[in-house]
Amino acid sequence: MARITAGVACSHIPALGAAIDNGKTHEDYWKPAFAGFDWTRAWEAAQKPDVIVLVYNDHASAFDMNIIPTFAIGCADEYAIADEGWGPRPVPAVKGHADLAWHLAQCLILDEFDMTIFNQMEVDHGLTVPLSMMFGQPKAWPCKVVPLSVNVVTYPPPTANRCWLLGEAIARAVESFPEDLNVQIWGTGGMSHQLQGPRAGLINTPWDTAFLDDLTANPERLRHIQHIELLRETGSEGIELVMWMIMRGALGPSIKELHRHYHVPASNTALGHIVLEKIA
Ligand code: DHB
Ligand code: FE
Repeated sequence: MARITAGVACSHIPALGAAIDNGKTHEDYWKPAFAGFDWTRAWEAAQKPDVIVLVYNDHASAFDMNIIPTFAIGCADEYAIADEGWGPRPVPAVKGHADLAWHLAQCLILDEFDMTIFNQMEVDHGLTVPLSMMFGQPKAWPCKVVPLSVNVVTYPPPTANRCWLLGEAIARAVESFPEDLNVQIWGTGGMSHQLQGPRAGLINTPWDTAFLDDLTANPERLRHIQHIELLRETGSEGIELVMWMIMRGALGPSIKELHRHYHVPASNTALGHIVLEKIA
């Protein structure tokens, strides 16, 4: 049977991808931001996941105001890299796992989550930067990816609790897939950041730290955080953190925090990263 073994969360700051692509990770500004991923790169190399259910948001690269799916799942064999204005990032195409993805889509919809299904989609920094942080610069990504996109760009995004419940449903669906697969679930985006308006540059380290602590200590509190608190405390783009709740909901009650990294500043954003192991 397929099983979810671990959850990983990390910010998907595009400047991190640009630092990798342009050979700048050794520079004084970037070094401490990347150092916190050394542990995870070694851990991922040992874990060798077969598939990642990668929860991310599209930033008007593939979806725009013409189509705004709250939750969408990719069922394709391959996803091209989006051109976000400076050309597509020089990273390998992302390989899908169509059989698992169609199984997830079927289970989730029958479990009363109205997923949009996409079979062709270009993926942007929301998905590619976390892959680069965890796997570096390989010729091909070492595992398959099921992209699961969440609308956090146009109001209203789904609630934290709805995301948690979707995570629980994803776990049920993965566990009913007959192939023996080591599956990880990743949540991306966050932590506190606001990229526009008078509060641009907002970062809230105490709030972020309490959120990281409570992923293990009190996830029940996080389920019930309202949008107004996310907007007030973490800025307009901090709302991306609802995607971490899908990851956390999928892991179930028993988890162990294996690794954490928090670094400010990284571009305009508080860079957060955590690795949680599911205890069977
Ligand atoms: C930045 C962060 C994001 O999450 C994003 O999608 C775009 C930009 C930033 O910090 O620059
Ligand atoms: Fe973002």
